[in-house]
Amino acid sequence: MYRVSQFFRALVAWVTKRDIGLLSEYLTPPQAELFQRMPRCDQRHGLDVFYALRRKQHHDHDLLAAALLHDVGKSGGGLRLWHRVLIVLIEAIGPQLLDRLAEDEPRSWRYPFFVHQHHPELGAELAQAVGCSPVTVELIRRHQEPPASSPFGTRQDELLAALQEADGVN
Ligand SMILES: [Fe+2]
Ligand SMILES: [Fe+2]
Repeated sequence: MYRVSQFFRALVAWVTKRDIGLLSEYLTPPQAELFQRMPRCDQRHGLDVFYALRRKQHHDHDLLAAALLHDVGKSGGGLRLWHRVLIVLIEAIGPQLLDRLAEDEPRSWRYPFFVHQHHPELGAELAQAVGCSPVTVELIRRHQEPPASSPFGTRQDELLAALQEADGVN
């Protein structure tokens, strides 16, 4: 049900001038440009995760930049709305099916599923290319990891847990 409501929110996503104005505080111009190349629904989602973290008094710059860009790896690669609908349905049936469907061949109709499955690594590469900090890049790379069951080992683990929690409810 949550994924369904997330889907409908994506359909009516909007981004305000105030949201865009805020980007310059956390992203350099090339990073903000990368953000604005994302589909509007992913921009909105990044902003929602960002605001959720700030509401919880997280002010770490690396974390907030990662919040804005964590799903940037989904941009490009032909991932369209109907793929996202199908992905939600397939995830409900059996998530392992998505791995079988994904193909690392940009000309294949199955490539968008690959992009979805590998968006953390793809996003980390894009973030690195526009000069994001190593911590931001690692947070993006790790954001879909299963949540840690043990106590935090490092500062990065702690930031990752905060990002995952905010991502999970937005
Ligand atoms: Fe993600
Ligand atoms: Fe996300």
